[in-house]
Amino acid sequence: MLISGKSITISSLHLLVAAFSLWLTCITASESGDPEPTPWPEQFHSILFNNNTKGNLQITDLWYDWPNGRNFNIIQSQLGKKEYHVEWDNHTSFHFTLDANKECRVLHFNVGILRPNWFEGAKYLGQRYMDGFLCNVWNRVDHVWYYEDVVTKRPVFWIFINGAGSHVMTFEVGKVLDDPNWQAPVYCFNDANNKEEISSPLSLVTDNDVSIGRLMGAAAMDVSLLL
Ligand SMILES: *[C@@H]1O[C@H](CO)[C@@H](O)[C@H](O)[C@H]1NC(C)=O
Ligand SMILES: *[C@@H]1O[C@H](CO)[C@@H](O)[C@H](O)[C@H]1NC(C)=O
Repeated sequence: MLISGKSITISSLHLLVAAFSLWLTCITASESGDPEPTPWPEQFHSILFNNNTKGNLQITDLWYDWPNGRNFNIIQSQLGKKEYHVEWDNHTSFHFTLDANKECRVLHFNVGILRPNWFEGAKYLGQRYMDGFLCNVWNRVDHVWYYEDVVTKRPVFWIFINGAGSHVMTFEVGKVLDDPNWQAPVYCFNDANNKEEISSPLSLVTDNDVSIGRLMGAAAMDVSLLL
């Protein structure tokens, strides 16, 4: 009787220890086993299908060029304007048209261009389908959600809290736009285009023409004004 009672106690203890170590393993696994977003390639070209803050549709040619500290969004609004946004890492942006109107705004932001690892450290939310692709999903400080294809690790979609979303239609790694194309037109450099100081990226959110790079740069820097 005594022996059997003792053996029962010991086996329950074993069970308890086993359960505890299993629990510990699970905890450790869920803390270290979450997938991390793949850093962006240092240079790539993407065509993005955007639905901006006001629900207007745009096709954007995105030329991301980290080694040269520059980012280019060529934005075609549906049945509307074509705008060119050249963003430099020194915080200066040129927003211009190349039509007869010769519009240009020179903007100064408090953020540079996006770092390739801008989504590092984001909160993993699990897997969801987006645009028909099974994606890992992350959220960064409740400002931006990022969907990456589970298999190819390519970005599929991202959306900001303000509702501006981008669907990635093409993703050409290593593609670089030739230097002359980055040059803002001469009418950007006359006195009329005095530099507008923008101390927060808030205006980007309310702006109809979402400047993806700066918006993301702000989000990456956890700029709470995005709310
Ligand atoms: C764009 O977004 C609006 C909501 O802001 C939505 O009603 C509309 O269906 C979207 N359009 C497309 C093509 O996704
Ligand atoms: C930032 O770099 C661009 C491109 O070289 C240049 O045109 C612009 O004047 C620079 N801005 C500042 C503030 O130096």
